[in-house]
Amino acid sequence: MGNTVGEFRKKLKIADIKGGPDEGLNRVGQTVVVMGWVRTLRVQSSVTFLEVNDGSSLSNMQCVMNSDAEGYDQVESGLIATGASIWVQGTLVASQGSKQKVELKVEKVVVVGKSDPSYPIQKKRVSREFLRTKAHLRPRTNTFGAVARVRNALAYATHKFFQENGFVWISSPIITASDCEGAGEQFCVTTLIPSSREAADSPVDAIPNTKNGLIDWSQDFFGKPAFLTVSGQLNAETYATALSDVYTFGPTFRAENSNTSRHLAEFWMIEPELAFADLDDDMACATAYLQYVVRHVLDNCKEDMEFFNTWIEKGVIDRLNDVAEKDFVQLTYTDAIGLLLKAKKKFEFPVKWGCDLQSEHERYITEEAFKGCPEIKAFYMRQNDDGKTVAAMDMLVPRVGELIGGSQREERLDYLENRLDELKLSKESYWWYLDLRRYGSVPHAGFGLGFERLVQFATGIENIRDAIPFPRAPGSAEF
Ligand code: 4AD
Ligand code: MG
Repeated sequence: MGNTVGEFRKKLKIADIKGGPDEGLNRVGQTVVVMGWVRTLRVQSSVTFLEVNDGSSLSNMQCVMNSDAEGYDQVESGLIATGASIWVQGTLVASQGSKQKVELKVEKVVVVGKSDPSYPIQKKRVSREFLRTKAHLRPRTNTFGAVARVRNALAYATHKFFQENGFVWISSPIITASDCEGAGEQFCVTTLIPSSREAADSPVDAIPNTKNGLIDWSQDFFGKPAFLTVSGQLNAETYATALSDVYTFGPTFRAENSNTSRHLAEFWMIEPELAFADLDDDMACATAYLQYVVRHVLDNCKEDMEFFNTWIEKGVIDRLNDVAEKDFVQLTYTDAIGLLLKAKKKFEFPVKWGCDLQSEHERYITEEAFKGCPEIKAFYMRQNDDGKTVAAMDMLVPRVGELIGGSQREERLDYLENRLDELKLSKESYWWYLDLRRYGSVPHAGFGLGFERLVQFATGIENIRDAIPFPRAPGSAEF
């Protein structure tokens, strides 16, 4: 009974045809099939030009069609129009035009899905603000296709870098009961409020409460308050103290109400954690990682990077080359403050030793790395011998400001317990984290890199909402 499942074959894409060293000339004479979406259609008296894109590269396949091609009637009837999906078969020929080396002489064309004339992405350029309202169609534009491919290359290079260096990828939980950063910017995960179907018309008093009028969390799904994670670090630390070097790469969530070009409510974070390591090892790893992924993009996304260099940020390629080749400057927090105090610039937020650097300050410094101050730093950071500062660093880069935040972790049980007390955090709820210091504790360090900020940095795209397919920000969760 039944047949065997067919063999999987890699589809021939436009990038495979045009991406080679001779841009497709080696395939002249071959019969190929292209499947994609019509970008433009130019009907001239004797020939029709179709620009077809399948998302594999920025370049389209130029398809040239005479009226004797099979399926030509679909041009005449208006079925083949911008936005439609089509299947085209033809012979690759050397192109007469200057924009490409090869083009497809069409033998047969079939419309797979027609496109309504209301298709919002016509040839004229539209703003990125407008395209945010069309997030389901924007990947069909040059800019968003290129961003998606570079984002993909950065993700691939991330895994490659860590795998080549002996790190193990760990899935940290998305639902958690602990607040890693202690900033209280978490989204609550609860079933006390009814599911989406009933949420719109559920009465307030449906939420169970205790005798004292507080929410009765014991009746909630997890028996206590639970949240979307702001960071996978604490869980990564548990695996680092067993597998030595690990990293997470997953979504994280922050309910901070910042409507800026650098903040999202949902973003992806890469969090390596290194055992038997200190802050210097941490910074060395962060630097090597960033240089590796930047180099990977420069080497593997040439066409897309040329596009960004021309249309999004002039000079982005030079900027990335600098990052890949030049040494990184290591600056202490105190020196950074000194530098800012000496700056002949008026900042909106005044500078004084002990303050958290604002993005205007970071962008002013635009190099990197300092040691933080304890008042504002998370509980897990290792206290320095001066008793005043902690072993923490941020990596600042041009355009983005803070790209990476990291630290050496407090591995000494008594110090960590004191710190939790100081911050009035409950030792009971961090029992498992404290256990790591009880059983075979080691000096360890790690960092977190905001993946969308890396995409911004690598592409030059100004707004972080254009660096992720479906941005989540205050007041916006469409799509
Ligand atoms: O500096 P952060 O808050 O550090 C941590 O979460 C540590 N637990 C990381 C660690 O040591 N394992 O966040 C790390 C990075 C920032 O440098 C920034 O790039 C990014 O995450 N980030 C955001 N990106 C987009 N939108 C937001 N709202 C972000 N908040 C932080
Ligand atoms: Mg930070």
